[in-house]
Formats: sequence, structure tokens, C-alpha cells
Amino acid sequence: MEIDVFTLFPEWFDWFERQRHVRNAIEAGSRLRYISYRDHTPLTAGQVDDTPFGGGAGMVLRVDVVDAALRGHYGRDPVEVRSGRRLIALTPGGRLLDDALAQELAAEPALTLLCGRYEGFDERVVEHLATDAVSVGRYVLSGGELAAMVVCDAVLRKLPGALGDAESAVEESFSPALGGAPEYPHYTRPAEYRGWRVPDVLLSGHHERIREWRAEQSRRRALAGRFGGRQGPG
Ligand code: 6GU
Repeated sequence: MEIDVFTLFPEWFDWFERQRHVRNAIEAGSRLRYISYRDHTPLTAGQVDDTPFGGGAGMVLRVDVVDAALRGHYGRDPVEVRSGRRLIALTPGGRLLDDALAQELAAEPALTLLCGRYEGFDERVVEHLATDAVSVGRYVLSGGELAAMVVCDAVLRKLPGALGDAESAVEESFSPALGGAPEYPHYTRPAEYRGWRVPDVLLSGHHERIREWRAEQSRRRALAGRFGGRQGPG
């Protein structure tokens, strides 16, 4: 997997790259690159954004700046680049990232993530340069950088060899193996702490009953999530 992140703050990703699971993904053959819009801007004094037409608060990342950065990095017209790889604009109103989308993106050989800033992008970036608009939730972050890290993290851990135990991503929360439901609860030692006991079934060694109990817990959590309730003990 090859991921290019276009950003105003490439140095934010220094921390991200130092994380063990990201390093593992890189050692396993993935490549992450960070491209600064400012390094490619055709405007003076490193300008990249501008005030919105029609008025209103905030700044908007300019379409000519995004176009120039893509063209500078790929060496050809971004409209052509777009037909060869997923080019994702990170924007709060985009398609919500979920397990299915993470899986879909993990199957791509290469991705480009475009981080916006403040009020976001000139809409022509989304319309003409990007193939997708993706959001990590219905709230506004001050830029797409944290969203890009979320996307990279969710996608990289889907790749073969990213996790210590190849099995561990298969049955995780929201995966097809769990019917899209959240994962069942986990417990470890001590079996009792301050009077809080681990469910007896997990200590029983009875694999079939454990499987049933976990499936039931996973279903319950799915219902609790759907009705927006606080998840109490199972
Ligand atoms: Cl992708 N970007 C920004 N700026 N805010 C967000 C988001 C993205 N997803 C949720 N909130």
C-alpha cells in the first residue's frame, strides 16, 4: 500500500510514523509520503487559502493550490491521476468511514489523502480533483490531518502482516465475521478485582458456551449502540 498525504502540516505526521504499528506497516512494504501544499503553491508568501466568495467566516483551501500540489508531486494533470487511484478529500460532510470503507480502501494499491483546513476546500477540489469525500464523524475538526491519521490507521491495520496475530483483525468489532456488530467484551487476570468478577462462562473452558456467550454479547452491544443507549454491563 502506498499512501500520499497532502497537508499544510507534514510535521504532524512525525509522531504518527513513530508508532509501532505504523512502523510495522512500513517495514512490511507500505509507503507513506507527506506532501506540503505550501511547497507547491503558485501564490506568493506561501499562501494556500482564501476568504470564501459570498462572505462568511473562515478560510478555504484554494483549488489552484491543490491542483498545483498534485501536479507537482505526480508530474501530470491531476484529472488524469484521478482515473488511476483513489484521491480522497477529507471533509466533515463526506462518506462516513466505517469498517466496510476501511476494508475497501485497504484493497487499493495506492491512496491519496487531501487534508483541508478550517472551513475546508473550495468545492471544485471535491468535484473535479478528488474521487471520494470521506469524513471520520459528524463533528468538525480544525483540519483534515487527524482524520488522515484515522484513515491511515484503520486502513494499515487491515493489511496482511500489520498485526502480530494475523487472525486478530478478522473477528474485531464491526467486521463481517461479527455481522458488523461491535466486539464482545474481553477480560483478563485477575478473575476477581474489588469484588468485580469475570463472567463464569469465560473461566469454564467450555468453548461452545463461550462462543455462544460472545455472540450474544456482541448482538446486545449492537442493539445498545443502535438505540444510542449507554452500554451497561451485559
Ligand atoms: Cl475528514 N475533516 C475535518 N476537518 N473535520 C472532520 C472530518 C474531516 N471528519 C470529521 N470531522
